[in-house]
Amino acid sequence: MKFGILTGGGDCPGMNAFVRAVVRTTLNMRPQTSVWGVVDGWKGLLDNNYTRLTKLDVAGLTSRGGTILGTTRVPELATDPDLQETLARNLHDNGFNYLFVCGGNGSLKASNALNTIARRENLRTKFLVAPGSIDNDVCNTVGSSIGFYSALDKSLDMLEWIRDTASSHRRVYVVRSMGRKSAYLALYAGIASGAEFVVTPNEVVDYENVATLIAERDKDTRIIVSESYPMTLDEIRATLEKIFVQRGIKREVRAVDMGYFQRGGKTSVTDILRASWISYRMVQDAFKNCDSGFYTAYYTGHSPAPMPLEEAAGDEASHDSIPKELLDFMLALR
Ligand code: F6P
Repeated sequence: MKFGILTGGGDCPGMNAFVRAVVRTTLNMRPQTSVWGVVDGWKGLLDNNYTRLTKLDVAGLTSRGGTILGTTRVPELATDPDLQETLARNLHDNGFNYLFVCGGNGSLKASNALNTIARRENLRTKFLVAPGSIDNDVCNTVGSSIGFYSALDKSLDMLEWIRDTASSHRRVYVVRSMGRKSAYLALYAGIASGAEFVVTPNEVVDYENVATLIAERDKDTRIIVSESYPMTLDEIRATLEKIFVQRGIKREVRAVDMGYFQRGGKTSVTDILRASWISYRMVQDAFKNCDSGFYTAYYTGHSPAPMPLEEAAGDEASHDSIPKELLDFMLALR
């Protein structure tokens, strides 16, 4: 058998643990299998750029952030059937029986498109996909993506550091969080850090009311703004400052972006264990000649049936909506 491993989309903590566990499990269980990393993600498939991996190549990787295989964004992959066809054929021509993918919703959709072509045209490669993204925007009602809790750990640290200055100066900090349209990262970081406000992408914010609530407080305020919210940090800062001046509220406002710091650095224990467990389960399933599938809601020691790729890729609701109950949860703790 021949296995390929691909990390796609934005890098995230846990991808290396995933790569390591696929390689180790495979070579320990069936040493005659060859395992190849696809270099630089989806672009590597186009260029047929693969590197053979040994157990030694993946030593010391469990907690390391980023991805040793590299990753690239190939947006055309979502819409270009010729490109999809080329990649599906490249995998087949190179003799891959399985491609193990760790990535976000773009990678899930790409895997589903390639799998559809491969099944239709009787190509040999099957696709086993794990959710890997700090955005938690793939099937998040039935699990969380690898990397999400690691990014939350970093966010919590940053929000506590900011609180030191915010409370010393009695300042308001407007803090931007990554997360694309899904807002899970901003919301969970807000809950975990006890932030006063979390602004989600589609929210209509009454800044007069925000100013009133700030004025009633005698200390720090952190307003977490999720990526995809239409106002920039500077626009929010300027809006609040204007209201403060008009109403004689003596508070300074500063803005800061947590951005790429959320995505980098060490992997959380939860993510290491789950990425490793999912890989272990995938490899065992592949040895049993399983169908393509999406491995979500896998917590260490639990093995629910994988979801069909088509179903998982079609779960648009997970990309940009947060259940109301979670918003109420955040408000109740404020
Ligand atoms: O998908 C992960 C993510 O970090 C998003 O939160 C963010 O919008 C995006 O990637 C940034 O991507 P890039 O690294 O391509 O700028």
